[in-house]
Amino acid sequence: MKNSLVIACDFPGRKELEGFMDFFGNEKLFLKIGMEMFYQEGPGIIHTIKDAGHDIFLDLKLHDIPNTVKSAMKGLAKLDVNMVNVHAAGGRAMMEAALEGLEAGTASGNKRPACIAVTQLTSTSTSQMNLEQLIPGEVRNSVLHYAALTRHAGLDGVVCSSHEARDIHKKLGQGFLTVTPGIRPSGSDLHDQKRVATPSNARMLGSDIIVVGRAITSNPDPYKAYMSIRKEWEGAAV
Ligand code: C5P
Repeated sequence: MKNSLVIACDFPGRKELEGFMDFFGNEKLFLKIGMEMFYQEGPGIIHTIKDAGHDIFLDLKLHDIPNTVKSAMKGLAKLDVNMVNVHAAGGRAMMEAALEGLEAGTASGNKRPACIAVTQLTSTSTSQMNLEQLIPGEVRNSVLHYAALTRHAGLDGVVCSSHEARDIHKKLGQGFLTVTPGIRPSGSDLHDQKRVATPSNARMLGSDIIVVGRAITSNPDPYKAYMSIRKEWEGAAV
């Protein structure tokens, strides 16, 4: 799973996703399906993507009481995706419950989906975090705190910005996954992202997996954009 390039498929529905996938021929992809798509299309879209042979990160960012998250994860495990996630802000008990649910829902002999936690969204600025969440200090401190909590709960890694990846590895070990959105090839539109990096910078900063959405999905030639980002990501020195 390390070194993957995940495409964030933030499309409104199946038609748009299938149109996008057509650009890639037989290329095997790692696709992130988020709430926008899943709430419209339901589990059927997961079966379609799996049948086409692609890997899936089901990005539903669960955040609720432990019992609800446990039951929800039990159901999601049955979809046999590669990765799911929660918000670390839900707390340690909630994250432990998520793992219990995943283990309970995974068919025997199968590998449970990797479970990671969102620390601070890459769209969150320090001032927003200070004023709206009433968390003082820098975003990176909050990210490191949530990452440690996530590790203690037994999860496999976190979603963070590439700028925090190295410190997270230093503190919590190389095996703890850093999954990083906010990736922009140099010179491209930042959209709503604040803490961004280019694919090669992300590699040098210690990202294990990059998540790229609009830089690929909004490009008139998504295949070319994907190949170019992948080349930069895979070719960069660690
Ligand atoms: O289009 P873009 O490359 O900005 O897409 C980033 C993707 O990563 C989106 O699907 C967004 O929901 C997701 N994400 C994020 N920041 C997080 C967690 C997930 O941008 N902290």
